[in-house]
Amino acid sequence: MSLFTPIANSWIANQRPYQPGRPLEEVARELGLPSIEGIVKLASNENNLGPSPRAMAAMREAIPHMHLYPDGGAFYLRQAIAKKFGVADNMVMMGCGSNEHIVLLAHAFMQEGDNLVCSARSFVVYKLVAALYRCQCIEAPMQGMTHDLDAMLRAITPRTKLVIVANPNNPTGTLVDQAAVDRFIEQVPDHVVTVFDEAYMELVEPEMYVDTVKHVKAGKKPVVTLRTFSKAYGLAGLRVGYGIAQPDGIDLLNKVRQPFNVTAMALAAALAALDDDEYLAASRRMLKEGRAQLMAGMRRLGLDPVESVTNFILFPFAKAGELTAELTKRKVIVRPMAGFGLPDYVRVSVGKAEENAQFLAALAEALAVLA
Ligand SMILES: Cc1ncc(COP(=O)(O)O)c(C=O)c1O
Repeated sequence: MSLFTPIANSWIANQRPYQPGRPLEEVARELGLPSIEGIVKLASNENNLGPSPRAMAAMREAIPHMHLYPDGGAFYLRQAIAKKFGVADNMVMMGCGSNEHIVLLAHAFMQEGDNLVCSARSFVVYKLVAALYRCQCIEAPMQGMTHDLDAMLRAITPRTKLVIVANPNNPTGTLVDQAAVDRFIEQVPDHVVTVFDEAYMELVEPEMYVDTVKHVKAGKKPVVTLRTFSKAYGLAGLRVGYGIAQPDGIDLLNKVRQPFNVTAMALAAALAALDDDEYLAASRRMLKEGRAQLMAGMRRLGLDPVESVTNFILFPFAKAGELTAELTKRKVIVRPMAGFGLPDYVRVSVGKAEENAQFLAALAEALAVLA
């Protein structure tokens, strides 16, 4: 029976919802297990170290105040972020994950007939958001697994409003370097907002770090840098991210957000996590060791994983869906990439050493079954 669909906006009715990594509880139910104990999730590029102890303490302290609305302006957190980046606090806006910023950017800048430009093998949300606003998503070809910024420039049209560079890119785990980014910014036409989606930037090795906030500060072009507390900071469940832009860009985004788009619990935890350098260092250490462990293990099993600068690894496998199902049976959740337009690829997030080992053992068995 179709009660709502005939009334719905046609372009929404035809939209396929985003398919996230499968939750632990769902897989426990499917496997008939009484709890999530023993199941490993390596499907959503989370930080399996768990939240930083400082963030957990801040959340506990915040509990008695949960009857109050949050500070809608996120004063203290924005101040702390602004200080960290050396920008004014009216150049920072918090969101319900950086995902919200992607939607808000479309809301503020795009209308029917406009387009956004991104790469062909990039974060699938860009395409979904473009469709929500009846806009085209122009996918520029990549050079193998890395963004081709020149191809992205060539893809820009007079109706382009946003060009989005995920750096490092999800799902390929590759990075475009500072020089390439600097050259790119120079050439993006002034009618286009350049968005650097840097959900994983805190996790790259310091010598590879790319600074795009300097382009925001320079104020010559409309540039937005997006960051999140979901990855390096281990707070994905709280949904908190931020955007940095010149004040007039932030003003526009503030006009289209909900008044209380970030919860009080998230504000408290993010503020505590922001300067927890010990936790960040531990996360980076876990990542570096875990990535090496996974790369070596996968290669030993005859796979050809893509070299990654961040906390997930993409690898080609023709029977990606079947492999994922076999791994799930063995209590390991990974992500088949069909939803990202890569039906022959699987992505695995880097976890703790024992989780990576569980994945590799399950992988060896699954490959034997599918051989
Ligand atoms: C490239 C990229 N951008 C943005 C996000 C959204 O992150 P969040 O909304 O949790 O901040 C993700 C999450 O996986 C991502 O991979």
